[in-house]
Amino acid sequence: MSAEKTMAKETVKTKNMNDLVALCKRRGFVFQSADIYGGLQGVYDYGPLGVELKNNLKAAWWRAMVYERDDVEGLDAAILSNKSVLRYSGHEATFADPMVDCRDCKSRWRADHIKNGRCEKCGSKNLTDPRPFNMMFKTTVGPVVDEESYAYLRPETAQGIFTNFRNVLDSTSRKLPFGIAQIGKAFRNEITPRNFIFRVREFEQMELEFFVEPGTDDEWHKKWVEARIQWWRQQGLASDNLVAYHQTAEELSHYSKATVDILYRFPHGLEELEGIANRTDFDLGSHSKNQDELGLKAKVMENKDSTSKLTVRDLEANKEFVPFVIEPSAGVDRGVLAVITEAYTEEVLENGNIRVVLKIKPHLAPIKAAVIPLARNNEALVHKAESIKRTLQSLGVGRILLENTGNIGKSYRKHDEVGTPICVTVDFETMTESENKPAGEETVTVRDRDTMKQERISISALPEYVRKYFC
Ligand code: GAP
Repeated sequence: MSAEKTMAKETVKTKNMNDLVALCKRRGFVFQSADIYGGLQGVYDYGPLGVELKNNLKAAWWRAMVYERDDVEGLDAAILSNKSVLRYSGHEATFADPMVDCRDCKSRWRADHIKNGRCEKCGSKNLTDPRPFNMMFKTTVGPVVDEESYAYLRPETAQGIFTNFRNVLDSTSRKLPFGIAQIGKAFRNEITPRNFIFRVREFEQMELEFFVEPGTDDEWHKKWVEARIQWWRQQGLASDNLVAYHQTAEELSHYSKATVDILYRFPHGLEELEGIANRTDFDLGSHSKNQDELGLKAKVMENKDSTSKLTVRDLEANKEFVPFVIEPSAGVDRGVLAVITEAYTEEVLENGNIRVVLKIKPHLAPIKAAVIPLARNNEALVHKAESIKRTLQSLGVGRILLENTGNIGKSYRKHDEVGTPICVTVDFETMTESENKPAGEETVTVRDRDTMKQERISISALPEYVRKYFC
């Protein structure tokens, strides 16, 4: 088969959000939600490749946070949240961003996003004073709609972990230090969603609440910051593009004693990818406190407030105490955007053409390998490709795609753009005898995405080759 005659000369251009948005739409990573109706602002859908990339990122996080440790359990709590949870967590009172209105064009802005005191839309300086805007989405539960029937869509996954603390503790007999990990949707009515999937109204979080003894919290906080930066590097983000930022006292959330943000160099600037907070005993403490104040029995009867004390027993001192918690909290959507930003590369080939290639880590790649019969109408080649696809699919490394377009150049271009690490081509030499190979041996070419180098290997060696690529 014909080898590509072009070699990469250089990488061109800095990353640009428009290029990423265009690639995401063109190749089916991310679409504006409900775009046939003009979209819904700050809401996106993940397409065939986006869902694979997102799932792979979440699986990598789950592996690192749950399977590869012996001190973390998983959880999948509900999105619909009892209002008392968000009252006692402090979100009803404080989960607000400062908002200003432009008196001239009537648009609304987050006060801290306003530059030079001017409206972003019309440039007017005729703005209202900032006032707090609570970002939680409210909904009603059940057929009766009244003052009491409302609930919230959770603004963070964390509260489901705190309210299940006792359940997990009792069902697993864990001792401190230990963590509870959860991945799931969160919702915030952002005043100004922007920058593609960076700031949206519906997003996913990967959160760990790691419970420790008071006094050991600072040390654990430091450890988790280091571990999380290391993990993002393993997902392919360059060290130069990752910065640990210590929030000032004014920036801290109502629950935090100290927060370190992991910032990433997104196309629109250096911005938060993950926050690692020392939430102290704030949440477990406030969910337990109303217990003491109101009395357990009354609460069970009213079915209103927290019904268990979220404490552990200090056996030496023979008393209950509320653990401290360290919380690494990462956004899945921001993670996807960071991975795509880092991986997006444009190379000028020797023939002057530009090659777009997504140099994504193999374990995150939406398609692990494409199997391509050189001619789409050749039954023998297509059957062989189908059989190879089935064999590779059964290895369990992820999605293997049969790419039967009959246009090898176009297939390579597509798989470069979507980051497929290897293309396996079944060609006219595959099943023919040749002096270059032992009698009866069938071979294919394997093309590496990054180097574009092709090598011919025997089909029987392919599973081992592919397995090594992804392990
Ligand atoms: N439980 C702690 C918490 O929710 P946060 O800093 O508000 O802390 C954690 O959010 C992470 O969730 C952020 O670092 C970011 O990656 C992601 N995130 C927050 N708001 C987001 C939004 N509107 N759109 C996309 N991701 C968001």
